[in-house]
Formats: sequence, structure tokens, C-alpha cells
Amino acid sequence: MNAPQKVAELAPATTEFKLDQQTLHAYEGESILNAAKRHGIDIPHLCYQDGLRPDGNCRACVVEIAGERTLAPSCCRTATAGLEALAKSPRAVKSQQMVLEMLLSDMPDTGYKWNDEGHASVAASLAAATENAPSSSYAGAKSSPSASPVAAGVGTPDATIGQHGELSAWADRMGVSVRPALRALRREQPASDVSHPAMAVNLDACIQCTRCVRACRETQVNDVIGYAQRGSHSHIAFDLNDPMGLSSCVACGECVQACPTGALMPKDHVGSQAVDKKVDSVCPFCGVGCLMTYNVKDNRIVSVEGRDGPANHNRLCVKGRFGFDYIHNPQRLTVPLIRKAGVPKDPEAIAHLNHDAANWSQVFREATWEEALALGAGKLKQLRDTHGKKALAGFGSAKGSNEEAYLFQKLVRTGFGSNNVDHCTRLCHASSVAGLLEGVGSGSVTNQVNDVEHSDFIFVIGSNPTSNHPVAATWMKNAAKRGTQIVVADPRGTDLGKHAWRALHFKADTDVALLNAMLHVIIEEGLVDEAFVRERANNFDALKANVKDFSPEAMAPICGIDAHTLREVARAYAKAKAAMILWGMGVSQHVHGTDNVRCLIALASITGHMGKPGTGLHPLRGQNNVQGASDAGLIPMMYPNYQRVANPAVHDWFEKFWNTPLDAQPGYTVVEIMGKILADDSDPHKVRGMYIMGENPAMSDPNLNHARHALASLEHLVVQDIFMTETAWLADVVLPATAWPEKTGTVSNTDRMVQMGRQAIDPPGDARADLWIIQQIAQGMGLDWHYAGEHHGVAAVYDEMRQAMHAAIGGISWQRLEQESSVTYPCAHEGDVSETTMFKEHFATDDGRVHLMPAGLIHANELPDADYPFVLITGRQLEHWHTGSMTRRASVLDAIEPMATASMCGADLHRLALTAGDVITLASRRGEVVLRVRRDDGTPEGAVFVPFAYYEAAANLMTNPALDPFGKIPEFKYCAVAVHAGGDLPQGTGFGLNRALHTDTSS
Ligand code: SF4
Ligand code: SF4
Ligand code: FES
Repeated sequence: MNAPQKVAELAPATTEFKLDQQTLHAYEGESILNAAKRHGIDIPHLCYQDGLRPDGNCRACVVEIAGERTLAPSCCRTATAGLEALAKSPRAVKSQQMVLEMLLSDMPDTGYKWNDEGHASVAASLAAATENAPSSSYAGAKSSPSASPVAAGVGTPDATIGQHGELSAWADRMGVSVRPALRALRREQPASDVSHPAMAVNLDACIQCTRCVRACRETQVNDVIGYAQRGSHSHIAFDLNDPMGLSSCVACGECVQACPTGALMPKDHVGSQAVDKKVDSVCPFCGVGCLMTYNVKDNRIVSVEGRDGPANHNRLCVKGRFGFDYIHNPQRLTVPLIRKAGVPKDPEAIAHLNHDAANWSQVFREATWEEALALGAGKLKQLRDTHGKKALAGFGSAKGSNEEAYLFQKLVRTGFGSNNVDHCTRLCHASSVAGLLEGVGSGSVTNQVNDVEHSDFIFVIGSNPTSNHPVAATWMKNAAKRGTQIVVADPRGTDLGKHAWRALHFKADTDVALLNAMLHVIIEEGLVDEAFVRERANNFDALKANVKDFSPEAMAPICGIDAHTLREVARAYAKAKAAMILWGMGVSQHVHGTDNVRCLIALASITGHMGKPGTGLHPLRGQNNVQGASDAGLIPMMYPNYQRVANPAVHDWFEKFWNTPLDAQPGYTVVEIMGKILADDSDPHKVRGMYIMGENPAMSDPNLNHARHALASLEHLVVQDIFMTETAWLADVVLPATAWPEKTGTVSNTDRMVQMGRQAIDPPGDARADLWIIQQIAQGMGLDWHYAGEHHGVAAVYDEMRQAMHAAIGGISWQRLEQESSVTYPCAHEGDVSETTMFKEHFATDDGRVHLMPAGLIHANELPDADYPFVLITGRQLEHWHTGSMTRRASVLDAIEPMATASMCGADLHRLALTAGDVITLASRRGEVVLRVRRDDGTPEGAVFVPFAYYEAAANLMTNPALDPFGKIPEFKYCAVAVHAGGDLPQGTGFGLNRALHTDTSS
């Protein structure tokens, strides 16, 4: 058991040892099993899996070691210099076969994970094993496998052998079948546990290898699966031996991916594993950007596997692994639609219409593509030609590809004629980008998430990564297990807090007080990295003067964290060898979001925690391609790669590049455009027509009653999407588009990794590729675009975008992406190695130095008062993503979280005489919702948390559109609400997947 968990593969493999008389070279600390695998030599193994700690419990991998009496497990035994081992000696093979036979003898007659290769290789394997076997063994016995009594099971496999996954495969290769006498001793077979919506637990097929336990406890650090009982009664157990569906399982499915036999399986994928093809792609949900493989059969995705991508190393969360079947939902849009004459655009009708979303015929009529495109583009063109170039606006999508984002912004700039183009980055991290561009000259992260491996201190603020970036959270939890100090600062208690050294539940809205107090301690106590500040920072004196009055003692009553803890955390951060800061929308979605980020930049800078592994700044980006869409120029004040519209030289460059005159003024942002739609007719900037691709502002904007009224007031609205969204109900023309697995393109994750997704299936009906649709609209607007090549010229579009972004992705060609799947930028030249740590010597600012910006205290725009005494905090859940249009149509995700709830702590429930499950009405000055209340003691007293994914109780009806002045991001994280018992709960919820369940629980 001396093989270390990690192999030092950076040094050359120089350790020479012998395996079956062949000389092999191993890395320092590498196991015999792994060294053998690298040389193409197979040794059976079951409890070992790449990425998991070797456990050595199954003994399928034993080898003989020269000079040793007992056989050794090759998965746990380090290949040391001069070691001589035999994996194919009669004694080793006999033992390996015995293990396989005994495990097989306990398997059920019908298995759960059927291998598909057949068993044709049995004879060949056996022959090979016999032929290659050394004629002697170190124990001195001379025998052949077939002569061994223990090898009596060798022969033709029985019919059930192929049904037990890896166990069957090894048995097949080693020529093992089960003797009837052993079969007769089969253990008692426990019944399957099918209590979980996603997974089945079939313990009759469990070989107790503990791969699932290690995957759950050590990889994902969820610690749900353990081991119960003793001896022959021992078995894996969930929590305190609860049914899986009632346990604390978060359904990441890491155990399913780890299980070699099908004892843990996706519920709907039990049986044959035969698929038509496997297609490599990227997860379509969050910004972590997990690489995955789609298993496709009959043009349907039947399951998803994690792939070894740089951001996830095979890991996935519940959305990525089990949330894929939204693409096959019968409510997919399959034909172009045109609004029926005389049907009003009624925002009040949205919830009712959603309840029967497949029945769009009450509002729309079917159209041909020719008709829909002619009307869609034709009316936009007419509005532009009649009212001028400011009359149109477009929202692109952070869920689309980089190529779609690039073409969409080019269409608006060159076809509509203005810079009125934006997307949901405005609603999540616009203030982070504003602060970072000002401070360090680049809006992207300085260090990648799994760089926390090199940190000894991690500061997570305003983020709930176990729900919102679950695989990113696993790297943080792994680090905590290794002893890294984590500080989680968040008004809400979150799961990551359980792994934290200190959890700071500061009062909502007081980020600057907390962070300035930390800066005060660091400066006053002489913990500043003087050399870093002297050589690499500007404006330190102003920062120092600003935080002089922010002592922990003065800030403690404001932020709610005692002075001692503030000092302790500030000192630990400053003194750490490598400290990294990660944040989420809890920081950015405030009217002081940019100030919050300025404080974080100052913290990292004055302590010198920049430009080194394990340090720096990381805003965890939300959507799968919010980074890429911003990079591609889907923002009103910047061309691709954050080149400012207002910069004359940049403006001239793009005019030449696109060969057309361009508007020199920045455009309006998401929330500003809603205002401009409702502007007076005399306003020359009044927006009258819009093209919205893959975004859902009728759910995601603040103050929805206002936003929906604005959208309904447009003279012409073209919506391109895969479902009838809340926004689509207000459209004049609806264009059926493709879901992510139906197209080829690139996306860029939170880590600056440009990653390729490949088309796995065909779109349903007459739905068309988004890239094709954008080009058709462009043609209709009079643009003469031609992008040749497969997938509607995606490679040609990428190449044009690469030129527009100059050096940023200059070294990332389409061909390189096809080969490597994922490349990190900046990467200026072909062949350059990606740079994972930014600003090692210079910042990207004009003078190469970090610009420190002092921040003062600013309160939220709307504070609680006697009429609205609670604070509303909005956000996401683990299972439901953004406006819910995809995740709520995914059967597993909908089954786990089927209805809207408001979370409140027990003290507030008690005060209001409420119990969990009661119906409440939540009301702000702008709107109200009725939903059930859920007890969550992590919610601070005086606050209510509501996810914004539920149309039945759309949280954004209540949120405040007040903007951060720099990022123009609304204050989603803070507004005043009232809570009242009772209310008329909407009848029925969701999109019909679990309607019986919904009806039962909501009646
Ligand atoms: S459930 Fe699967 S992974 Fe877990 S111990 Fe059993 S066989 Fe191994
Ligand atoms: S962490 Fe994000 S990218 Fe990874 S599987 Fe989950 S939702 Fe997908
Ligand atoms: S694989 Fe080595 S002991 Fe199980």
C-alpha cells in the first residue's frame, strides 16, 4: 500500500523494473498497475479506477513479486527500481481468476450493465494468457491455468456473464465462468432501491469495491455513501442507511460513473449499453465548462458521461449528468410561428399559457421558414428604414456558441446600425467586468478554479458554488480536505460553509464595510506586500487614506461580524503563502457591485496575491458561455475582445474590417433598452423592434411587470428559441432553433478555456441551426454574408472572430480545437502553451500596474421599512438554472425540485406563525407572488430567498431595477418585501413532466 495518490509525471519515467520478464519504465511513485497500463499491458482490476485513491480491496490485480511470499495488489504497489513482478504467472493468473469467479458467483441472473462486445475474445484471451505466462512462478510451482483446480471455472462463459459491466469484461478476457457449485452458494439478493428519481441502487450486483464510496467522499466530497454492517452482511449505505431518494444525495452521479458493475445505474439506462455513437461535447449549463460525452442511440441522447476536461477531470453535477432530456421534451418548437392576427400581447396571460406550453396554437399559427424569415427580417428592416438605426435592438445569448454571439453582434452593429446589443452578462457579472477592466485591464479571471490546489487560503464571497458551480466547488472541498483554509463570506449559510475554517454571515448589503475592514487591518498592521505595491500598484495612498476610518471595531456593528474575527481573517489572508479570491453574484448584483469588486482587487493586490499559482481573482461566471459571449462582443459598449466602441482607432479598425460604417456611440444595456421601448414617440432613440435569440428577459429582467409591458409594447419582436418561453409568448415571429447537442461550435468557460462542442443529434422537426437563422436574418436586412463550410460555416465564422479578437485567441485555431477540445487563452500564436496564471509580471492596464480604487459605503437602493420589512435575495438552485426553460423541462431535475418555494429561517417562521409548507404571499412595491415556504436556517433572519427559475412565482416580479452606475447591473440581491400568510396558489406548476406530482403537492 505504498503507492502515492498522485504520480509525479512531470519528471521522466526513469524507474526501471521488470514485469513478466519485460523491462518497463515507471514514473517516480507510479504503481505497477499504472505503469503496465501505460505500456499497453493489461492486469485485471476492479476496485481501482483512474482518479480514485487506490484501495486494494478486491485483489483482482495481484502479481507475484520476486522474493516475496504473498501476492501483492499491483494497484497499490509502487514500481521500484529493480523490482521484478509477474502478472501472468500461473499463480498470479489463478488468483486473479479466482477473485473474478467468486465475485461473479454472487451476481444476479440478469445484470444491469450489459457489455456489448460479445464474448468472442474469450478463447483468444485465454490463449494469450496461457501463451504469455512465464513457465515458472516465484513460488516455485509449475502449473498451467487450465490444470489448476481453482481455474476450473475457465471455459466458455455463460449467457449472463456479459451483463455485469467491468466484472464481465475482465471475466471474459480472463476466460472465467462460474462453477455450478459456487453459483449454488450465491448470497442473499437484496431488492433494488429505486427511490431516487435519477438512479437505481441494485445491491445484488455490488462487489463492494468501494469505488462509489471514494467517489462520493473523496472526489465530490459529498460524503453521502458509506459502508454499513460487517462481514457478509456489509453493504454500502446512504446516510444512516436511508433509501437513496430520501438521503442527502445531491445526485452528482459520480458513484454511477465509478461503479464497475451496474449496482449503481442511471435509472433509465439499465441494461444494454449499446449505443450508435459517442459524441464529445461540453455541458450546456454553467460556466464551469465540464467536458462530457453524449451516448446516442436512434438520434436520442440516452446517457452522459463526464470526460477528462481540464476544468472537470471526468466530474459532473446533477444538471450535466441527468439534465439532458430537455432536448427531447415534446414541447420543443419544431416549426416557425407567426402571431395570429388580433391576438393581443398580454403579459398577464403568460403563466396560464405556460401551463400548456405545447399548445401555442391559441396565439400563433404555423408558417414556412420563407414566410417567417420574410416577416421577421422584413419588419425589422422597415422599422430601421422608417425610424432610424436606433429603433432596433438585439439580445444575444450566453447559452449559444461563440460563433453565434460573434455573428449576432455583427448583425446588430452592421445590419441594425447601432450598438444596441447586449445579453445576460449585464444581469450577472457586469460590475465584476467593469471593476476588473478598470483595475487590472482584463475582465476575465486571473487564475483558474482548480488552481485552488495551489492555495493555502481560499476566500469565497457572495457565492454558493455547491449549488451554482458544483464541480468547481469540488476542487475547493478537495483543497479543504488537504488542509487549505477556506473562508466563506455570505449572508446565507451555504454548504461550502461546512468545509470552511470561518463562515462569515455578514449582513446583506455590507460587503464594502467587511472588505474595507480587512484592508484596514492589513494596512494598519503592516501586512502589506510593500515590494508588490511599490513595483506594481497605483493609488495605494488614496486606498490607505480611504480605509483609515474602517477599523474592524467601527465596521463590526455595520457588517455584523465581530472585530476579532475580521482581524483574524484579514491576517490569515495576508499571511497566506498563496490566497485566492472567488466570488459570485452576491458580490456583483448590487448598486455597489463595482465597489465590492474594487475592494477585492485591492485585497489581492496589496498582499501580493497576484500573478502566482493559487492566487488571484476569480468571478465565477454563470452561464456556460457568458465569458465567450462577452469576449465575442455581445455588449453595447465594446467590440470583440473588449475593444471600446468609443475609441476612434478601434471604431475605424472595425469599420474597415467589416467594410461598413458603424455607429460611434455605445448602445443601450438590457435594462436601459426596456426603458427605451417605453420612451415617448418623440425620442429619436425609442426602440421599436427587437430580435432576441436564446434569452428570456420576460423572466430574467428586474421588475418584470415593467419589462413584460415593454416587450409587449414593441411594434415587432422576433424570438429565436427552443421552447415557447415567457418572452416568446410576446413575440410576433418565433423561430425554432437548435439545442446545444444539436450543433457544433465553441464556448468559453469561467476559466478562459475555449472548448468545442460537436453535434450529437439532429434537431427535431423543422428546427434550424441558430447560425443559419442569424445569417438568414442578416440577408433579410440586406447584408451580403457568405460563410462557407459544414455546420453553416462555423469554422469560417470562428476564424473571422479570431481575427477580430487579435492576439487573445490568435493561437487557437479551429483545427487545434478539433484536436485538443479545450485551449486556454490568452494564447497569441499557434503552438503557444496556454497561460493559466495571468499578470505574472505586468497587468493589462495602460501602464502595466494595478489601479487601486477606494470604495465608500453605499446602501442598497431600497431598504426594508415598516411596510416591507424583509429583504428579498434571489438566486439559483442546484437543479434549476436561470429562468428554468431548460431545467424545468428535464425530467430528473423537475422531479427533484418541482415547485417554487421561498426559504426562510425557523426564527422568522415562528415569529410569523408559519410552518414549512405553508402558502405565503411575498410582495414588493413592484409585484407579488404566491408560493410555499420552506424552512432553511441558512437564510438570515429578516430575509427571504427565492430562486428565479419558476414562472408560477417569478421572483423578478418583485426585484428592483436600480443599477450599479458602472456595470449597469440591477440590484437583484436586495430589495424590500412583505411576507403575509396565505394567498391564492397558482393551480398546477411546471411544464407538465410531473403533473400528477405537482397536482398532489400543490392542491
Ligand atoms: S455500488 Fe458499485 S461502486 Fe459501489 S461498492 Fe458496489 S460495486 Fe463498487
Ligand atoms: S458543474 Fe456546471 S458545467 Fe459542470 S456538469 Fe454541472 S452544470 Fe454542467
Ligand atoms: S484493483 Fe487492485 S486490489 Fe482491486
